[in-house]
Amino acid sequence: MKVLGIETSCDETGIAIYDSDQGLLADLLYSQVPLHQRFGGVVPEIASRDHIRKTLPMIRQAMSQAECTASDIDGIAYTAGPGLVGALLVGASIAKSLALAWNVPSLGIHHMEGHLLAAGLGERPPAYPYVALLVSGGHTQLLACHAQGRYDLIGESVDDAAGEAFDKVAKMLGLGYPGGPEISKLAGAGKPGRFRFPRPMTNRPGLDFSFSGLKTYVMNQIAELGPLTEQDRADIAFAFQDAVADTIRIKCTRALEQTGLGDLVVAGGVSANTALREMLSETAARRFWRLFFPPLALCTDNGAMIAYAGWHRLQAGQREDHNIQVHPRWPMVDLA
Ligand code: KG4
Ligand code: ZN
Repeated sequence: MKVLGIETSCDETGIAIYDSDQGLLADLLYSQVPLHQRFGGVVPEIASRDHIRKTLPMIRQAMSQAECTASDIDGIAYTAGPGLVGALLVGASIAKSLALAWNVPSLGIHHMEGHLLAAGLGERPPAYPYVALLVSGGHTQLLACHAQGRYDLIGESVDDAAGEAFDKVAKMLGLGYPGGPEISKLAGAGKPGRFRFPRPMTNRPGLDFSFSGLKTYVMNQIAELGPLTEQDRADIAFAFQDAVADTIRIKCTRALEQTGLGDLVVAGGVSANTALREMLSETAARRFWRLFFPPLALCTDNGAMIAYAGWHRLQAGQREDHNIQVHPRWPMVDLA
């Protein structure tokens, strides 16, 4: 079965073709980051207009790269939410139009389920049940995953998402957007131990996160130091990243203890962070958890995860009519 995947939920156009026998036949990604950079964040109207420009040409390119014609495609998956409404509508309209023209089924995919299932594209796919930590620019969630679509929310951020905190602290340090990779690079030159930032909400029970206070703590530290040297910036980046990773490690440990599960899947943009991966791997080895990540290139937004999640749902017989519907806000627990 060959599934075309279309991701247009935010500032990246991702187009991929997944074949259940041969794996990924094409996986194209176009980033709008340079378009939004001078505004310091994503401008929704610019995002929608640019998705309109890119989506069809990229589908053509993916089809040619995969040596496919329309008659080879068995289904189309698109991101139906959560995300920017205009951007989502571009992907949904194109998916529905092509599905009608090609006479194949189309299916709206939950962006975060796409991130989660991307772990199955790795060398060692996870098996249910497991605990999932989803960490992206818009979400920080712990889920107990029992089966495809059966996810219980067991913890989440009460304010900023982890990726959002990376982006905001990067801005404070004068780094570019998205901030996660920039902080990670700068932290490489940081001296461990010079600063120790708080691990929010770890000194009381529970699986919820809060990164807003940590962000304020960093802001105050920056103000206290006055004009920053290059070493100050690197040391702050290191201490911030260390605090986020350690907080996540503590909450994941608790989640596995509380659920009695031994498998942890970590996905979403922040799961590309090397320090977080290393810290979790070290804890997993010590505590005998099995730990799963998507392949590094598929941690941040991409079309492959949507094609792959679409394949899972299409082959399970899920179908949808030709109405164009998107869900800018869409809790994952509603997927069952
Ligand atoms: O999953 P994603 O690509 O898009 C959303 O669904 O939000 O996640 C983007 C977020 C951004 O906040 C970005 O700064 C963060 O993931 N990110 C990282 C890294 N790569 C991306 N954060 C920390 N370290 C990274 N290497
Ligand atoms: Zn994402």
